[in-house]
Amino acid sequence: MSKICVVGTGYVGLVTGTCFADLGNQVTCLDVDHERIDKLNHGEMPIYEPGLEQLVSQNVRSGRLFFATDYQEALKEAEYAFIAVGTPSGNDGEADLQYVRAAAEAIADTVDWPIIVINKSTVPVGTGDWVAEVIQQRRGDHPLEFSVVSNPEFLREGSAISDFMNPDRVVLGSLQKEAAQKVANLYQPLRCTIMITDLRTAEMIKYASNAFLATRISFINEIANMCEALGADVNEVARGMGYDKRIGPSFLDAGLGWGGSCFPKDVKALEHMAVLHGTQPQLLQAVMEINRNQRRRAVMKLRKALGSLNDKTIGVLGLAFKPNTDDIRESPALEIIHLLQNEGAHIKAYDPQAMENAARVVQKVELCDNPYQVAENADGLLLATHWNEFKQLDFARIYQIMKHPILLDGRNLWDAEQLKSLGFKYMGVGRAVNGTFHEEE
Ligand code: NAD
Ligand code: UGA
Repeated sequence: MSKICVVGTGYVGLVTGTCFADLGNQVTCLDVDHERIDKLNHGEMPIYEPGLEQLVSQNVRSGRLFFATDYQEALKEAEYAFIAVGTPSGNDGEADLQYVRAAAEAIADTVDWPIIVINKSTVPVGTGDWVAEVIQQRRGDHPLEFSVVSNPEFLREGSAISDFMNPDRVVLGSLQKEAAQKVANLYQPLRCTIMITDLRTAEMIKYASNAFLATRISFINEIANMCEALGADVNEVARGMGYDKRIGPSFLDAGLGWGGSCFPKDVKALEHMAVLHGTQPQLLQAVMEINRNQRRRAVMKLRKALGSLNDKTIGVLGLAFKPNTDDIRESPALEIIHLLQNEGAHIKAYDPQAMENAARVVQKVELCDNPYQVAENADGLLLATHWNEFKQLDFARIYQIMKHPILLDGRNLWDAEQLKSLGFKYMGVGRAVNGTFHEEE
């Protein structure tokens, strides 16, 4: 049993802390957000993540998982301090490291025993060395015995627990191999591939992985747009490509582009790092541009179908950036809503989990209780997030209650033929068949 403190209790920190507790360690999750920790201490989840509530309560009951706002209390006798605070985009696209600095300084101020500091936040290449410097400077004449290990996280929201418990790999980077080996021991129970490398390489593996996944999505979206122009079906194209073992089937779903708290900020941060160090990241720039355009194309399709968007009512199904999360950061739905509103459209919307978060940021959006309220009197309906509950709607009813039966299936979720036979004008993304894009029929 090891004593672990996890600094930052968001999507990554809370899942990491809870899973390490579940693996038999004693873990305290620390956050500066008192409301968040109060909630957790009352058994309430500050975020929606499938399976998390039950795992938290099991481990709290077993006496292995604690929550605190006080660094003294949280770090007491800790051998490992994981930093899992946010690293949002700064003004110029660079990763903003203010929270990482604050966490590193607070650790330096609190601890007086040997400790391993582990960067789990996604941080620019070189940040591990910088964190070591921050700690040393803070200690001044009272040096601390510590090591810094980079341990980037690869979990996805919506499947975070199973991603953590069944990782494709764990990456550890450090110049102090003994420290990296100790962190590796924490992951031994998962029986997964553990790769130990140097600090900067580990940090780069994280950015390169996210940028590559974003590139795959932008690539298939570019192909989808060509499918629309040339008369092919992108779903089938992706399926045909995916059988090739060198390509594989994952992350080839065309749609409204990638969003979320990570791909947008991480691709931007990598591009920023590259330019700052004198290289020309043309591919990353194109990947971001294609992603921006994918949102605009959705607006264009609706405008074209309706003549004009001014004074039209558009229903939006889904506000979270992907299904099975309440996270709305950089959600394609919200960006498209903004663009539609700019052209004078009225918006009605519904999401199974993200309504509370959305209510805090959207303006002049009629938030509805279910998909049918959204569809009522709408001139067009946009599927923005492919939640399971949107898979099998009563489309005969939706046809009756919409003002104009126009559907834009932004995630290629629905059966185009069935919807057309009900009388809808159906538009997907890259779904032309035998030379005819569904929109034109
Ligand atoms: P988040 O915004 O959900 O949570 C961050 C938490 O850190 C907040 O609760 C905040 O109050 C807390 N915090 C900020 N400063 C603090 C401090 N000085 N001391 C203690 N707590 C502090 O962030 P997240 O989505 O969990 O992401 C955290 C990091 O992990 C980011 O670098 C992100 O890029 C990376 N990451 C995220 C995911 C994901 O799916 N969300 C996956 C992999 C990696
Ligand atoms: C992503 C990565 O998948 C994780 O490995 C990584 O740890 C995480 O970012 C991070 O660094 O934070 P996440 O953002 O939770 O995870 O969600 P994804 O499932 O990757 O989806 C990201 C976006 O891409 C979503 O908007 C999703 O709708 C979109 N997407 C995904 C597509 O448009 N097409 C696809 O084929 C796959």
